Amino acid sequence: MKFLVINGVNLNLTGKREKGVYGTATLEEINEKIAAYCKKNGDEVCFYQSNIEGELVNKLHEAFLNKTCDGIILNAGAFTHYSYALRDAIASIDIPVAEVHISNVHAREEFRHKSVLSQVCRGVVCGFGLGSYIAAIEGLKNP
Ligand code: DQA
Repeated sequence: MKFLVINGVNLNLTGKREKGVYGTATLEEINEKIAAYCKKNGDEVCFYQSNIEGELVNKLHEAFLNKTCDGIILNAGAFTHYSYALRDAIASIDIPVAEVHISNVHAREEFRHKSVLSQVCRGVVCGFGLGSYIAAIEGLKNP
């Protein structure tokens, strides 16, 4: 399968910010491990990160219109909790999207307990760091 891993706002600082919450692995290191995992299993993967909501929407549209992948793993960061634009974009495309989070959002502040994206995603994984991304890939491979 062909996967697209999208990381949203502030995820470029992973491994450098709030290390007690998000760990010490950088986004580049996490992506390298995901790439190695996919390669080992004969899957293709590409990566995208942006701090800009509209660019994330554009990437979802592009994947849909150009049929660039079979499944999307999305960590939207804080946009998860309030972006109706991202939610509508996910609902607009026929590619399954898995919502992921590095941290266990349910064990954190109240505002993180709500996701406006989950309802239109195929599934949700949180709390396992790199493992959240890997579990999401497996979930999309075994619908
Ligand atoms: C996050 C959780 C969000 O609540 C937070 O705003 C992030 C990262 C995670 O991966 O744990 O930026 O999506």
